[in-house]
Amino acid sequence: MRAPALLVVPAVLIALYGLTTLAAPGIGAPFLVDRFATLRIPTMAHLFAGPLALAAGALQFSGRLRTERPQLHRRLGWAYAVSVLISGIAGLFMARVSEGGAITHWGFGLLAVSWLVTTAMAVRAITRGDVDMHQRWMTRSYSLTFAAVTLRILLPIGLAAGFPFEAVYRFASWAAWVPNLAAVEWWRRRGGSPA
Ligand code: HEM
Repeated sequence: MRAPALLVVPAVLIALYGLTTLAAPGIGAPFLVDRFATLRIPTMAHLFAGPLALAAGALQFSGRLRTERPQLHRRLGWAYAVSVLISGIAGLFMARVSEGGAITHWGFGLLAVSWLVTTAMAVRAITRGDVDMHQRWMTRSYSLTFAAVTLRILLPIGLAAGFPFEAVYRFASWAAWVPNLAAVEWWRRRGGSPA
C-alpha cells in the first residue's frame, strides 16, 4: 500500500509553509515576527524540525516502504522521532507565550507533551520488538503531528465565518488535535489499518 495522497499532499504543503516561515517570518501568522524577536532559538528549532516531522511521518504510512525498504523506514523513523523531540520541546516553550492566553497555553502545551509522550512510547515499543504497539503509538503520534495541518484548515474557516482571530485561535489550539486523536482511536477500534 502507498502512503495515501490525502495524508502526504497536505503534509508536504504545510511542511513547505513551515520552512518558508523560517526564511521569511513575515509571511506567517501576525505574531511570528514577535516570536522570532523574543524566543529566537525555540522558534527556529520548532519551524525547522516541525516540517521535517510532518513530511517524514507521512511517508512512514506507506506499506511498501515498510516492507520493501525497511532500512529507509528505520532511518526516516529516527529522523521523525528526533524532529518531534526538538520541535516538541521548542513548542512547549512557545506554548507558554502563545497568542490567546491561558486557553492556548494549555491547548498547545498539552499537545506538545502528548506529542513527545506518544512518540517516546512508539520508539520504546519498537526497541523492544513490539511492532503492533509501535504502530499504535506512532499512529497516535502522527495524528498529533497532523494538528499542524488541521490547525491551518480550521483557522481560515473560522476567520471566513466572521469570528475574531483570538477566538478562532483559542478554539483551534484544542480542536486541531483532540478530534485527530479521537478519530485514530475510533478507527483502530473498528479494525482499520494505520494509514
Ligand atoms: C504537534 C505539536 C506542535 C505544537 C505543540 C506546536 C506549537 C506551536 C506553538 C505554541 C506555536 C506558537 C503560537 C503562538 O505564538 O501563538 C506554533 C507556531 C507554529 N508552528 Fe507549531 N506546533 C506543533 C507542530 C508543528 C508542526 C508539525 C509544524 C510543521 C509545519 C508546525 C509549524 C508551526 C508554524 C509555521 C508556526 C508559526 C505560526 C504560523 O505561521 O502559522 N508546528 N506552534
